[in-house]
Amino acid sequence: MDFYEVNKIAGGLLLAGVVTIFIGIFGNTLVPKHDGGHGAEPHGTEMAATTPAARSQPAGPEPVAAMLAEADIARGQSITKKCTACHTFDEGGAAKQGPNLYNIVGADIAAREGFGYSDAMGELSGEWTYANLNAFLFKPKGFVKGTKMTFVGLKKARDRADLIAYLRTLSASPRPLPEVDASEPAKEGEAEPKAALPAPPAPVQAAEQATPAPGAPPEPEGQAWSFSLIGTAAASETPGDLAERLAAADLEKGKKVSRKCAPCHTFDKGGKKRIGPNLWNIVGDEVGVREGFKYSKGMIAFGGKWTYERLDAYLTKPRKVVKGGKMAFVGLKKPKDRADVIAFMRTMADEPLPLP
Ligand code: HEC
Ligand code: HEC
Repeated sequence: MDFYEVNKIAGGLLLAGVVTIFIGIFGNTLVPKHDGGHGAEPHGTEMAATTPAARSQPAGPEPVAAMLAEADIARGQSITKKCTACHTFDEGGAAKQGPNLYNIVGADIAAREGFGYSDAMGELSGEWTYANLNAFLFKPKGFVKGTKMTFVGLKKARDRADLIAYLRTLSASPRPLPEVDASEPAKEGEAEPKAALPAPPAPVQAAEQATPAPGAPPEPEGQAWSFSLIGTAAASETPGDLAERLAAADLEKGKKVSRKCAPCHTFDKGGKKRIGPNLWNIVGDEVGVREGFKYSKGMIAFGGKWTYERLDAYLTKPRKVVKGGKMAFVGLKKPKDRADVIAFMRTMADEPLPLP
């Protein structure tokens, strides 16, 4: 059975939590690289089903796919306090006892450069799909027998969902969520709505992300960033500064930046909604009025129009500007990237709004 199919079924049976479904998932995704005496049996499922600890729990980790869309990302971030003794989460962050975890959702297992993995983890191939992360974080040593991650695990499904939803945002192009509101399938093999777990998209930018510029200064915006910066980021850039950035914007670059939005948005006239609404003619338009798209309450409350200033602030740190918003995108830290993409979006209209 195809991985994708198995996951669709898993989506339908989320609450049932049927162990055999998990065996199906793991069996298809976690194939040992070498048959080094462990055989092809997935470690995780054996353990989950047979250890005493697992027996006292419901058969295995409760699936979290359906909880991710409504997960509390800020809470997820605070749960990483349990991990920070051993892991950094910022882009280009150093390895500690464990590897750096920026952009881990959807990444290859045991593939962080320069990190010395245990044999047990090093032998696994496959990706950190939502299901794999869920199982691993539930009970690391159950999922990867012999891992050197000495962490007891997160037993509460809510904790894992919030944490995984947060991990997902730590990426230049977050993976599509496993479940979305949209009722029609997206085009061109993009994340399909209703799928419990979309087939892992091609490893876009894998090379770029795997090799942070050597000697690059540590990002000033680490974990604290999302808690502290937003108001100031928007406020410290005067409209004049934004107007200058827009006047000097590079449309081609803006189009490239918009690829980060493409898992969730189309920009062309009449384009479909994906995880987010179609963005044709968004610059200067009303907030939250795309027909057929189900906005968050936060976005509706935000109201008003998408002025240049508001777009610039929103794209800096979406969740801080639109409280209770559901755009799970980490934001564009570089003012130039924001100006370029806004300038690009401006052109995606019959009558582009005049520049400020
Ligand atoms: C006591 C230290 C420790 C703690 C606490 C810890 N980890 Fe780990 N983690 C490790 C080590 C060591 C590895 C490498 C495991 C191996 O090679 O077997 C690892 C590996 C991982 C991996 C796989 C990375 C890869 O490149 O494939 C993920 C994902 C992960 N940890 C997530 C977490 C999360 C999320 C938390 C907090 C909820 C956490 N860890 C807490 C030490 C820790
Ligand atoms: C992971 C998916 C995702 C990514 C990536 C993403 N968005 Fe969104 N976006 C959404 C969702 C979901 C909403 C609806 C938010 C709400 O209702 O709170 C949204 C809403 C918006 C809106 C408001 C639309 C309206 O109708 O009022 C704008 C503008 C926007 N996004 C721009 C962008 C841009 C530009 C990028 C890339 C730089 C981007 N988004 C990346 C999911 C995403």
